Amino acid sequence: MIKIGKVELPNMPLLLAPMEDVSDPPFRHLCKKYGADMLYTEFISADGLIRDAEKSVKKLDIFDDERPVGIQIFGGEEDAMMRSAEIVEQANPEILDINYGCPVKNVVCRNAGAGILRDIDKMVKLTAAVVKSTKLPVTVKTRLGWDESSIRIVEVAERLQDVGIQAISIHCRTKHQMYTGSARWEWIAKVKENPRLTIPVFGNGDVNSPERAVEMVKKYGADGVMIGRASIGHPFIFREIKHFVQTGEHYAPPTLHERLDACRTHLLRSIAWKGEKLGILEMRRHYGPYFAGFAGIKAFRSRLVVSESMQEILNILAEIHEHYSKDENLIHTAVKHQPTETFMDG
Ligand SMILES: Cc1cc2nc3c(=O)[nH]c(=O)nc-3n(C[C@H](O)[C@H](O)[C@H](O)COP(=O)(O)O)c2cc1C
Repeated sequence: MIKIGKVELPNMPLLLAPMEDVSDPPFRHLCKKYGADMLYTEFISADGLIRDAEKSVKKLDIFDDERPVGIQIFGGEEDAMMRSAEIVEQANPEILDINYGCPVKNVVCRNAGAGILRDIDKMVKLTAAVVKSTKLPVTVKTRLGWDESSIRIVEVAERLQDVGIQAISIHCRTKHQMYTGSARWEWIAKVKENPRLTIPVFGNGDVNSPERAVEMVKKYGADGVMIGRASIGHPFIFREIKHFVQTGEHYAPPTLHERLDACRTHLLRSIAWKGEKLGILEMRRHYGPYFAGFAGIKAFRSRLVVSESMQEILNILAEIHEHYSKDENLIHTAVKHQPTETFMDG
């Protein structure tokens, strides 16, 4: 068992990665249903929270059936981070997570996200301030370093532990790598080899199959696995990994009914949470991933992504069911775990 504050996680916990525009309550509901042990919110701007910006405050919504949840914040200013930690505490998550990994320009230029990887002393100081300002357990998600020549993740993990963080998730790429190349899991092993490091280390980057999840833990020593892109359109990945770990066998791919049910639930919950207009709009980028590998889906998808009516979308989903249930050979499940290119901007 792994403990973070009061949160007790099973061995080899599976975590849903924080993903902007993805890891919202509707999607988190599905990941929880299919076996994720802990879920992170999308990142939330500390500045936005203290200004009471509607978009930021909305992201604090968490629901009891998805616990344990970590709320993730980002920012480069100590005062704003401390004040936003207090606001996060009121939302009552199990964990407060700090984002030190986002490589996006307008985050990095404020020395937030991965921007802070250029100044490790500042990162440690900022983290210490956040830890002091909240009763919540604080965790950190980061990358290996700013660039190839400045990878100091072994030292960083230990120093952040020493100022009080209770777990660290590592996306095994540098900021400069963005999403290119492969995640270098050997760094997880190096971090874990440090005898002074006792907090859980969660491995992240390119886990898109049960085998890869097991490899991250067994070969590289991660205490758990954080999954991002492979869950998009495929929240079933959590149960597939769990089943493989428990039995050594592969769980059957989701049925057509399950896929459509997940997509429909996602849509309906998006509408319930965001309202019909925004719920429908933001659901559009998910149809591609939900139906990846469906031969001839394009004609249906191009109708789904222009429809502005919930009923019309439900009717198209019913048509998809009708069409593919006649011949499930039209569904090529082998491609289902590929990380999706449409979501590479985070
Ligand atoms: C669409 C998208 C949005 C993301 N948003 C965030 C975010 O808000 N906070 C964060 O720490 N990482 C974010 N990330 C990075 C992921 O959490 C994760 O570290 C990365 O995708 C690598 O893991 P994966 O290979 O399992 O996807 C985002 C990634 C994507 C694809």
